[in-house]
Amino acid sequence: MRDHGTGSPFLDACHGRPVPFTPVWFMRQAGRSLPEYRAARGDGDILEAIRCPELAAELTLQPVRRHGVDAAILFSDIMAPLALMGVGVEIVPGRGPVVAEPFRTKADLARLRPLEAEVDVAPVLEAVRLARRELDPMGVPLIGFAGAPFTVASYLVEGGPSRTYAATKVLMHSEPALWEALVGALADISLGFLRAQVTAGAQAVQLFDSWAGTLGTEDYRTHAMPASARVLGGLADLGIPRIHFGVGTGELLADMAAAGADVVGVDWRVQLGVARSRVGPGVALQGNLDPALCLAPLPVVEQRVRKVLDDAAGLGGHVFNLGHGVLPETDPGTLTRIVEWVHAYQHRG
Ligand code: CP3
Repeated sequence: MRDHGTGSPFLDACHGRPVPFTPVWFMRQAGRSLPEYRAARGDGDILEAIRCPELAAELTLQPVRRHGVDAAILFSDIMAPLALMGVGVEIVPGRGPVVAEPFRTKADLARLRPLEAEVDVAPVLEAVRLARRELDPMGVPLIGFAGAPFTVASYLVEGGPSRTYAATKVLMHSEPALWEALVGALADISLGFLRAQVTAGAQAVQLFDSWAGTLGTEDYRTHAMPASARVLGGLADLGIPRIHFGVGTGELLADMAAAGADVVGVDWRVQLGVARSRVGPGVALQGNLDPALCLAPLPVVEQRVRKVLDDAAGLGGHVFNLGHGVLPETDPGTLTRIVEWVHAYQHRG
């Protein structure tokens, strides 16, 4: 059993409160880097695992048991609500979400009905309840999550992962009203999904706008931020920390904070001190070790972990994380060591 005193260091850091040590968790901590994950998952489809609450709860717990991280993230996917609603999304191993009939026209919008969370995502909510039952005695909080409208829309419009997001940008600029209706519908789905996860027991949420960094600041403000602000603003009354994350979003950090975040995710491209100057006080920072660094020799990893912590020292609320998800080829032993180093860190100013 972990002794976290009265509160959780993770939740306290998200709120900018004093913590006994810097809390740490890893995006994609549940996944292919863990042999026990591969064993439990087998060859099945990831959506099958998401439909099975016992398995999803078990996969949520595995990295907590192994690494001693300070938060669990629910095992699910940003495309889960749409897939469970029958929108025609598949998640192809090694590739990512694929939509057989991409969204391009007004008629496609009719394929997005409102989410009925208690029905459509019932297995996910049951996984939240099961995971909480196991996590509570360990004093480890559970993070729920959803995809931000822009990032989810990019999969629907492109039909799959993309490097250029050309089809998404063309739709955004050639049919702004249709685009707005699309991201508006996705905002309602993500908001409903997150509120239901919190009601079921999630103690913090992360909104993943993984690919927002492909947008320039003007386009982000006009075409992506309002829908994300609707999601984050719609959670304000719940009083739980709202983490807002994207990759390559150095130029967007201030806007991502202003959208209604309590914590902003920072990738490895931006030093945490610079991130702090961009978002101002009052918002915690999460990040930002380069995930590729986890494949380097341990002394190098240790030095870089220390560098992130030195950068964060004195800046106010900080949650240690990678700048993006754990790479599947990562040695899980390295992640366990990182948790130990972060917890043992003492700033020598
Ligand atoms: O441990 C955790 O972080 C929780 C689990 C989690 C998954 N997906 C499980 C998953 C989370 C938080 C996500 C979010 C997600 N899904 C994002 C945002 C985070 C990010 O990486 O930016 C995005 C963009 C997706 C869409 C998606 N799903 C991609 C790009 C992939 C990878 C495809 C591949 O196989 O490499 C998936 C599949 C997926 N989601 C896997 C996992 C563990 C890997 C496939 C598997 O194990 O079958």
